[in-house]
Amino acid sequence: MSQHGHYRMSDVGKTVTVQGFIQKSRNLGQLLFIDLRDRSGIIQLAFDADHPLKETAETLKHESVVSATGVIQERSSKNESLATGDIEVKIETLTIHSEAATPPMLIQDDTDALEETRLKYRFLDLRRPVIQHNLKVRHQIMQATRKFLNAQDFLEIETPILTRSTPEGARDYVVPSRLYADAFYALPQSPQIFKQLLMVGGLEKYYQIAKCFRDEDLRKDRQPEFTQIDIELAFTSEDAVTALAEDMIRAIFNAVGEPLHDEPFTRLTYQDAMERYGSDKPDARFGLTFASFKESIGTLPLDFLTDTPLHGFVVPKGNDALSRKDLDGFKGLFDSLNATFIYLKKAETYSGSLAKHLTPEVTQTLDAMMTAGDTLILAAGQDALVGLGRVRLKLRDQLDLVKDAAHRALIITDWPMFEYDADTARYYATHHPFTLPKGDLKTIEGPADQLNSHAYDIVIDGHEVGGGSLRIHQSQIQKAVFNHLGIDEATAEARFGFFLEALKYGVPPHGGIAFGLDRLTMILAHTDNIRDVIAFPKTSSAQDLMSEAPGPISDTQKKELGL
Ligand code: AMO
Repeated sequence: MSQHGHYRMSDVGKTVTVQGFIQKSRNLGQLLFIDLRDRSGIIQLAFDADHPLKETAETLKHESVVSATGVIQERSSKNESLATGDIEVKIETLTIHSEAATPPMLIQDDTDALEETRLKYRFLDLRRPVIQHNLKVRHQIMQATRKFLNAQDFLEIETPILTRSTPEGARDYVVPSRLYADAFYALPQSPQIFKQLLMVGGLEKYYQIAKCFRDEDLRKDRQPEFTQIDIELAFTSEDAVTALAEDMIRAIFNAVGEPLHDEPFTRLTYQDAMERYGSDKPDARFGLTFASFKESIGTLPLDFLTDTPLHGFVVPKGNDALSRKDLDGFKGLFDSLNATFIYLKKAETYSGSLAKHLTPEVTQTLDAMMTAGDTLILAAGQDALVGLGRVRLKLRDQLDLVKDAAHRALIITDWPMFEYDADTARYYATHHPFTLPKGDLKTIEGPADQLNSHAYDIVIDGHEVGGGSLRIHQSQIQKAVFNHLGIDEATAEARFGFFLEALKYGVPPHGGIAFGLDRLTMILAHTDNIRDVIAFPKTSSAQDLMSEAPGPISDTQKKELGL
């Protein structure tokens, strides 16, 4: 099965049976050649002029399914672009299993098909080697994960899909229940509550490759239905969970054979990540890190520099690399944020809107950090860092700044416990409401905006691939967190009553993490489209174009469900 792509010159003379799809045929009058494809690759079948099956074989459309038996022989004209290009199978017998209609798309890596067509005919798209490769990488990640965690005594345990709402902060997918009018199941946004209850249940070390469902705005790295490698353990610490995460990521990269930087994962606090990279998921494969210019340029007596943070970074040789149009584009980006964009170019002297205001002291500071040809990108204001973060990523792509093939992982720690939302005038949990805040009960009961948490994210090449935290295991702390969130006792009881009840009966301190399997696969398979790593994905408007889900249900079904 599935091995003809591995035949080589050393197999010449062997009688073999090969099977697969017809990729294409070449009819040279006297001779007929067919390229046969299976999961392992392509091999050429050769029919002699007088072969009794040649005529039948000539009529076969590509994508028809056949098996053939014959002898491997050296080719007279070799094909260097094919792994099996030195050989072919001289056909003796041929069995036609299934004749194909003309497919609606070209079945090869560089297909001309629109993504819409590929998703509608996903069963054909799956035949493309690139998609098969991605699914193989996904398989390798899953197997490496299981191997790694099993060796450390974790138990793989499933949790329910038909459940109650879970607090990950997205909208739920809900399922009506036939037996209970006006009552609904919610599909899990993650197994969060259940994995914590497994710790209350004394299972100590849990993992699961879990389906999660979130009805949220979709992006290139988000699907409504996605998969987490979900982990929880009792009697643990922040260092222990992040060390486990680091070891597991290394094991996975090793198994797939992708290079990962061998230094220990860099740990950055959330605040440092924002100040150095303007992002809570920095791409650390290249430089252009930020510094504060508050003490230098920020001291110039200009209105827009008063009482505001000022950050920036030097683009080496930026004067040539950045056109007027690029700089105008950056300005537009900052205009749409709450921030002011400024730049300074260094040649023999400085140019740019600030140049004429420079004092000798400030010039001296700049001279120490810039050489002729460099451009300094600066931003002042509330959203300056976020804006600079976006410019940094634009420059990464435009100037092709990632030179190293090795992937770079970071651990982002010390997340703020809460985020304030001005529209609804309330605090939300940055991670989720069961995350353990840092500090003692008194600190936790204090001002919400000063609390940090025991939450951590794993970031690789600028993608958030995993996140987790230590959990609250004491009722008073849980109550204080709910207070900050404006969740009163009755609401807490109604939403998570069963969980709060569990906190009363002895709870081991615990914590965990969940990795996005789809995002990890994207990185390891080198694609920026999440749909390329899922066998049957949904579009960015949450539809399955192949099965046409979501779809209508019958009136009878509706009646039964009381809808
Ligand atoms: P979180 O919400 O951060 O944490 O999710 C964990 C990881 O899952 C991935 N992810 C997604 N991938 C694809 N499509 C989506 N819509 C999507 N949403 C999230 C990301 C993310 O880092 N219960 C907690 C984990 C914990 O605390 O242990 C949780 O779900 O890679």
